[in-house]
Amino acid sequence: MTQRYAPTRRHFLKAAVAVGGTAGLSACLDFAGEVPVPAGVEDPSTLPRRQHAWNDVLETDEHGNHALPKHHIFLYVNLDVDGEPTDSDRQQVADALSVLDRAYERSPAGLIFSVGYSPSYFQRYGSAPEGVDLPQPRALSDFEQPDFDTQDVHIHLASDRADVVMEADEALFGDRETANGVDAVAFPGTVDSRRTGFIEPGMPAEKQDEVDGIPEGTQVPEASKLFMGFNAGFAGNQASEAFITIDDGPFEGGTTKHVSRLHQRLDRWYGDNDHDSMVKKLFGTHQVGDVEGVGNNVGDHSGVVAEDLEALVEQAREHGAVGHAQKMARANRDEEGNVLTLRRHVESTDDGVASLHFPSLQRGISTFEAVREAMNGADITKETPAIRQRVNNGILRYIFVKRRGNFLVPPRELRALPTPDGEAP
Ligand code: HEM
Repeated sequence: MTQRYAPTRRHFLKAAVAVGGTAGLSACLDFAGEVPVPAGVEDPSTLPRRQHAWNDVLETDEHGNHALPKHHIFLYVNLDVDGEPTDSDRQQVADALSVLDRAYERSPAGLIFSVGYSPSYFQRYGSAPEGVDLPQPRALSDFEQPDFDTQDVHIHLASDRADVVMEADEALFGDRETANGVDAVAFPGTVDSRRTGFIEPGMPAEKQDEVDGIPEGTQVPEASKLFMGFNAGFAGNQASEAFITIDDGPFEGGTTKHVSRLHQRLDRWYGDNDHDSMVKKLFGTHQVGDVEGVGNNVGDHSGVVAEDLEALVEQAREHGAVGHAQKMARANRDEEGNVLTLRRHVESTDDGVASLHFPSLQRGISTFEAVREAMNGADITKETPAIRQRVNNGILRYIFVKRRGNFLVPPRELRALPTPDGEAP
């Protein structure tokens, strides 16, 4: 009789690294399994309705800025069935996801996750989700040629523990029999693409040798969460979770998510710029001198405010550059000054390239598109010869969009294969 191979937790995770392409996480497994992971809830229906409401469990710094969990896996999944899913497919998805709720505390010490559905998924039913602004992804500048993520489902797993995101992934899509002691149920789909990310001060510095392009002798600052040497995501420049929530129709309580994948050219970034020039191009012309080190001194707001085109052109002429955040602030505010997008981007070393997985949450995708189009600064380049498509134009010389995808993140009760009219029968 063949003896069944019973892997230890550590062997199992190592194997998952090998098959899953999650190499970036492997180095984090050294102490995996030694500290128990807090368990989830008995009744998942007691969890918050909004899948995107993470802030209540995230850590905050002394200024109230939220810190995302350290480790992330993004799963792009195609359903195994063609056409409309059946009730039993739906039940299987509901069961698979509820295993995660029961297995892991909804916190960075356990697991935080959300599940979204693409426009292509809804095409199975022949119509778009009712009341939701969810177009297919498209190129958002004249100088990018991204590939599009049109897989059915997008699952974002996040935890302070690499072993937890990997175990959750394996429980859904591997042969794993349990997740933190709870019997696993397989998700009825196939992972088309598995991407990994991380975000924590010190991690880019620690991983800078894993990627190409950082010039010899350059040290990414230890205090930085991002490869480009600054911190971002200040509370005052982020939308609230309430603001980005769809507020009527069958998907009330959900949100939309655009996810891009960007490559970074750090050789140019570190080669072209001193600290002041970095601040000017990333934040804005007014922030030079105000942003010290990685920017933690700014508190809970980057200092960037909405400026009209005339003011932006004047600044660009005077300073020979326009800032990344500076250009977008106007498009990223409503008439009352509310910020429109909630950015939850993380760094990545997938494929040995310094890159970024960039989820942005907002009530509708066209809001993201308008903010991203403002980043092109096309109207400023027309007025100012020194600012060109990719020259002195924020950080456009340093980032290259490889992929774009759009998803609806429905409210929790509709997270298992919803129909376009908002049923999950
Ligand atoms: C390597 C890539 C990127 C880096 C290093 C980066 C960094 C930053 C930094 C340092 C800020 C100012 C601080 C803050 O408000 O949090 C900022 C603001 C912002 N960034 Fe980025 N960013 C990147 C890519 C992008 C992309 C692709 C978008 C797409 C739309 C984007 C959208 C924004 C927005 C909307 C703001 C806030 C502007 C406002 O105040 O309204 N960023 N970013």
